[in-house]
Amino acid sequence: MNVIDRFERPLRSLRISVTDRCNLRCQYCMPETDYVWLPRESLLTFEEITTLVDLFTAAGVDRVRLTGGEPLLRRNLPDLIEMLAARPSIRDLALTTNGVLLANQADALRAAGLGRITISLDTLRADRFQTLTRFDALPAVMAGIDAARRAFDSVKLDTVVIRGGNDDELVPLLDYARSIDAEIRFIEYMDVGGATRWSMDEVVPRAEMLARIEAHYGPVEALKEMSSAPAERYQLPDGTVFGVIASTTEPFCASCDRSRLTADGLWLLCLYARGGLDLRRPLRRGASPEELLNLIATVWTMRADRGAEERLGSPERAALIPVTALKKDSHLEMHTRGG
Ligand code: GTP
Ligand code: 5AD
Ligand code: SF4
Repeated sequence: MNVIDRFERPLRSLRISVTDRCNLRCQYCMPETDYVWLPRESLLTFEEITTLVDLFTAAGVDRVRLTGGEPLLRRNLPDLIEMLAARPSIRDLALTTNGVLLANQADALRAAGLGRITISLDTLRADRFQTLTRFDALPAVMAGIDAARRAFDSVKLDTVVIRGGNDDELVPLLDYARSIDAEIRFIEYMDVGGATRWSMDEVVPRAEMLARIEAHYGPVEALKEMSSAPAERYQLPDGTVFGVIASTTEPFCASCDRSRLTADGLWLLCLYARGGLDLRRPLRRGASPEELLNLIATVWTMRADRGAEERLGSPERAALIPVTALKKDSHLEMHTRGG
């Protein structure tokens, strides 16, 4: 079955958050001091996750990415990866991590069948890492990146670029990525839940990032690709490839084929969605696979979300959700929806 939504977008990619907990407090995602966590008993078990994944693949999904919070905080994660890797309908199985716990886990993740890994890296400076994340963990992340390079064929780095925060590091980060043969993607700072201190002034638009990169390396060439991936890819004169994810200034909603499942089974059709479909409840009350698949297909067919494009048209744009509202509903948080 291949379901399409109201804008003829298929359902191809599923991002599964395996925990809302995180061991960092990144300024753009979890800057507050306290948070309300999802109750432990509400978290989907690995069996429940795979039951849902089988329904999603039956509806057209063939790419799965595990996220968090920080996914490596979820106990026995390689067991889940092994269960997912055994499903031939999943063509691409990936994970996004902050890297802090990766040094000890990279080999086990690879052995379990994880295909690709993306590690967040916002700075190469230890003092700045502490300012941006509130933890002194850059050495652990660098060790994690080393371990990932040894274990995986494909390693990507994600950098959220913040004006006045880390935007003076585009070139050093690109040089570093090139030196370890990893593809780095520079992400425009987004006004999603969690980014409680977001302002347009802190966004460095893609055009400006490219101009700064060209000023250092010479002309960059845009690689023409047909893909629904959020990153546009570019090449430096020496062949180094990097990406820019311009979700804030040039959204890609028109080709968005992704949805998200929170750790407690709420299915979100858009990163900016205010609400979603609770799949845990019908699952736990014993709904049949046909019933659940029908629900998923029907809801996707009605999907008309284009959150980032709508935000583009909103005047006096500020953080999407006020902190008071976020505190009442943790499902609105970026760390609950998996980045
Ligand atoms: P690849 O398959 O390697 O291209 O991965 P990816 O780019 O889909 O995954 P990753 O987790 O690295 O996502 C990178 C960043 O893109 C996220 O952290 C978000 O900032 C942004 N992003 C991912 N998904 C969406 C989405 O559905 N909508 C919007 N607006 N931005 C997204
Ligand atoms: N803007 C852009 N990207 C964000 N992420 C989290 N919050 C934001 C935000 N406000 C993404 C980053 C991070 C991943 C887990 O989620 O890419 O590396
Ligand atoms: Fe997809 Fe919503 Fe992100 Fe647009 S804003 S790309 S519709 S998730």
